[in-house]
Amino acid sequence: KFQVNANDIKAQIQQNMWGVFFEDINMGADGGIYAELIKNRSFEFYKPLMGWKREGKAYKEGDILVINRQDAKSNNPRFLRVKANSVAKGDFTLTNEGFRGMGLKKDLAYEFSVFYRQLKSGIQLNLELLDGKGNVIGTGKLIPENADGNWHTQKTTLVSSATELKGRFRIAFEGTGEIDLDMISLFPTDTWKKRPGGLRADMVQRLADLKPGFIRFPGGCIVEGHELSTRYQWKKTVGSVEDRQLIVNRWNTEFAHRLTPDYYQTFGLGFYEYFLMAEDIGANALPILNCGMACQFNTAEVVPMEQLDEYVQDALDLVEFANGPVTSKWGKVRSDMGHPASFNLKYLGVGNENWGPQYVERLKVFQKALKSKYPEVKLVFSSGTDPEGERFQYLDKELRNLKVDIIDEHFYRSPKWFLENAKRYDNYDRKGPKIFAGEYAAHSGKTATPDNINNWLTALAEASFLTGAERNADVVQLASYAPLFAHLDGWQWTPDLIWVDNLHTYGTPNYYIQQLYSLNKGTHAVSITSENEVVAGKDGYYASATIDKKTNEIIVKISNYDANSREIELNISGIKKLNNTGKDIYMVSDIDAVNSIPAPLNVSPKERMVKASGKTVKAKLEPYSFHVFKFKAT
Ligand code: AHR
Repeated sequence: KFQVNANDIKAQIQQNMWGVFFEDINMGADGGIYAELIKNRSFEFYKPLMGWKREGKAYKEGDILVINRQDAKSNNPRFLRVKANSVAKGDFTLTNEGFRGMGLKKDLAYEFSVFYRQLKSGIQLNLELLDGKGNVIGTGKLIPENADGNWHTQKTTLVSSATELKGRFRIAFEGTGEIDLDMISLFPTDTWKKRPGGLRADMVQRLADLKPGFIRFPGGCIVEGHELSTRYQWKKTVGSVEDRQLIVNRWNTEFAHRLTPDYYQTFGLGFYEYFLMAEDIGANALPILNCGMACQFNTAEVVPMEQLDEYVQDALDLVEFANGPVTSKWGKVRSDMGHPASFNLKYLGVGNENWGPQYVERLKVFQKALKSKYPEVKLVFSSGTDPEGERFQYLDKELRNLKVDIIDEHFYRSPKWFLENAKRYDNYDRKGPKIFAGEYAAHSGKTATPDNINNWLTALAEASFLTGAERNADVVQLASYAPLFAHLDGWQWTPDLIWVDNLHTYGTPNYYIQQLYSLNKGTHAVSITSENEVVAGKDGYYASATIDKKTNEIIVKISNYDANSREIELNISGIKKLNNTGKDIYMVSDIDAVNSIPAPLNVSPKERMVKASGKTVKAKLEPYSFHVFKFKAT
């Protein structure tokens, strides 16, 4: 028997509480949500022709050279110089393998674009989409129009006649002459909101379907970098795409189950695009910036305190980029990119999983500078990943002393830990900093191995833990699972919320738990007890209750973390009565069950009608099941 008291308000629920954590890990951005199909389009990978193959009987050594113009264009120094002499179509080709192939869709148009320079016309580019076996499934032609020795861009489209998971793209040179090529690019035309050079619509839609309250970006450890020179620097990710200097991805080969030596950050998805995506799907942007320290799990490179100004200035300028008037320096950059209106940035994080006194002393400088110029922006600082460890305890204390706005806590722990921590927030200081449960996931096996899977058991453990976050929504104001995306053919970390291949996506059971919380949050947490105690583990039950003052609904979440099915009774006080019928939105499965591309909804929510009598609801909970009961009340 559970007692819910709709008059006993425990917390107001932030309407942006449930969000997403985005990082370019597991091919989340390049090769993932960033829809570019060509790998190494500007030849800047450490092996300049990585991803490309030169072939054909007319091809001779030296017909394709990689030229470096470091002095003239240090952000994108390399380009290709192609020479041809009476070449017939098909005798000299350049093929790109894509990111683990290219997903091509039947009847969809693909936009090819290229930067070129030539002194004389003579070479034509025959364009071909190939299937996995090398058959041509789409053709196009580009005859460069200008021959004045200056760089130009030109575009054309080609349509695929078949659907292919592992396609490739080939340029067959024809004719005689010499031409320089750079930024060889191919995008599908069905991107999110049909934006040219945009994002994979199916992946953005997965996020939109969560109705996330915020998007944290761009990570994660890529914010820090293994060394400071490869930290994430937002200023290098805005402006023209061809001028965004790529860097090696911090997840390149690290933890790689499938090695990814070709993992780079091209920043086609840069800070402007992140802000736009957040706006598109109604989420607050929550950027995290480097604090002047590289990843401490590997190195301890720190910028000296006397050189921290550049980092602090980056943070100040980011607020100006997001919110400043178009007359300001960085507001103008935003406006020139197409968004004169403010992005209305409300949160900014500094540091990701950094620790020690070095982190604290740097944060003080950031806090002072940011709070004096932008007091309205809430600052998020991290307490790290080891909730029981000394580093975490030290930071938690220091951050509370600094009276920071929000502390970012990370938990990659066993399902058991999640269950045991359902009461974690019950005794947090109600007057201190708010909590951002910024990265969490129940791990069924060793992190970043194939055994660490998104099964129903892990999702149910998270659901149970999150009843505690919801019960304490006055303290826990933001929450996000991590990591968000993973590509089935190129990942570094498990488990992950959403899995993709080049054509499909599926949400894990954990995804649907996040969605159930986000879509059924209510406006206020109210008390729910059993025998006068909060319901957080006794007899395998975990529960939270909210009311929605806008819709007059009572929403009760219950996890039955037990091998038996059980009958329960909910008694609701503080209302006149419940409507006679309500909903039980529930998830139940074998604890080992997973979702997959062929069975994306194997473990997903279902809905059934439940009856109420006056203020009482009786229901049966299946073994290992999670329920969201929703009733209108008068
Ligand atoms: O989510 C994967 C990684 O886990 C993140 O990059 C980092 O913040 C955490 O250690």
